[in-house]
Amino acid sequence: MKAIVYEEFGSPDVLELKEVEKPIPKDDEVLVKVHATSVNALDMIFRSGASLLFGMTKLMAGFNKPKHNILGFDVSGEVEAVGQKITKFKKGDLIYACLRSPGANAEYVCVPEKLAAIKPANMSHLEAATTADTGGTALTGLRDVVTITEGQRVLIFGASGGVGSFAVQIAKIFTNEVTGVCGTNAVDMVKSLGANAVIDYKKEDFTKNGQTYDVIFDAVGRKVTSYEKCKNSLTENGIFVTVDPQSTMFRYMMNKKVRGYMGGINSEKLDYLRELIEAGKVKTFVDKVYPLSQVAEAHRYYESGKKKGKIGISVQE
Ligand SMILES: NC(=O)c1ccc[n+]([C@@H]2O[C@H](COP(=O)([O-])OP(=O)(O)OC[C@H]3O[C@@H](n4cnc5c(N)ncnc54)[C@H](OP(=O)(O)O)[C@@H]3O)[C@@H](O)[C@H]2O)c1
Repeated sequence: MKAIVYEEFGSPDVLELKEVEKPIPKDDEVLVKVHATSVNALDMIFRSGASLLFGMTKLMAGFNKPKHNILGFDVSGEVEAVGQKITKFKKGDLIYACLRSPGANAEYVCVPEKLAAIKPANMSHLEAATTADTGGTALTGLRDVVTITEGQRVLIFGASGGVGSFAVQIAKIFTNEVTGVCGTNAVDMVKSLGANAVIDYKKEDFTKNGQTYDVIFDAVGRKVTSYEKCKNSLTENGIFVTVDPQSTMFRYMMNKKVRGYMGGINSEKLDYLRELIEAGKVKTFVDKVYPLSQVAEAHRYYESGKKKGKIGISVQE
C-alpha cells in the first residue's frame, strides 16, 4: 500500500511517499481502508520530535528516531476486515476514529475497536476525518472537564483553530453566552460558527476589557495565555480550562479553578459527537484539502499559521 513515511525527525521534508506492507489487524482491531485523514498539532510534534509534557511526547514519538514511521491520528474510512474479538463493527461499515498511535497517512490502517464509531451519516469521509481529534478534544473539555449550564458565560480562546472551532459550537449547545477570541482574518468565520460575540485579539486584549466569564477555555495552548493572565476575567467561581495539560499539571492540586486535560477520545465520545452532527448542531470547518501524496505541503501550510479550522487529507483520490 502507499503511505507517507518518515524515518528521522525534522521539517516536512522528511515526509516521503513510499510503498509499504499493508497492516494486519490484531484481535481487538479493525482494518480500515482509509478514505481521509487530517493534519493535527500532534502530527507536527511527532514529526519534529519535540519534547513536551515532561518528555511524554518523546516517549510516544520516539527518542532518537521515530517510533512510528507513519503519521496521521484522524481517520475516516471503510472497514475491510475485523479482528477475532470485534463485536461492534463488520466489513463494509463506515467508521471514524482518533488513533492513540498514528498511522492513518496511508491507504490502510488498523484501528482499535474502542477508539472507533460509525461515521456521521451527513458527513463525507473528509469532514469526519477532520472532526474526530479536535472535535473530541473540545467535547471532553466542555462536557466532561467542566459542566456548563444555560446562562453561563463562556469564552473560547483560539476560536478559529481546530479545537476552538468545535469548542464554539459545543459551548453553544450548553449556553447562549459564547464569546470567541481569534485573529482578524477569522472573525467572520467564528461568527458563522454561532459565537454571540467575537473579540479580535490583534485589536483587543480580552483580559483588559472588564468582562468576566464562568469558563475560559484555552484552545491555543503553547503557553500563549495562562490562568494568571486570565484570572481577573473569571467570575468568582469561574474556571480556566486549557488543552495544555503541562501548564497546569501541578497547579490543579492547589487551585481548582485551573484545569488542564488530554482529549482521551474514544467510541463513546465519537458516538456522542455523531448525534450532535446528525442533529445539525456541530459541523467541521475545512480550510484546505491535500491528496495523500502532498502531506508534506499540508504540514507546511499548517505551520504557516494561516490555517483556519482544519486541513484534510484525501487518501482515495
Ligand atoms: N489536550 C489534548 O488532548 C489536545 C488535543 C488536540 C490539540 N491540543 C492542543 O490544542 C492546541 C490547539 O490545537 P489546534 O489543532 O486547534 O491548533 P490550531 O488549529 O493551529 O489553532 C490554533 C489557534 O490558536 C490561535 N492563536 C495563535 N496564536 C495566537 C495568539 N498569539 N493569541 C491568540 N490566539 C492565537 C489561532 O488563531 P488565529 O489563527 O485566528 O490567529 C488558532 O485559532 C495545540 O496547542 C494542541 O497541541 C491538545
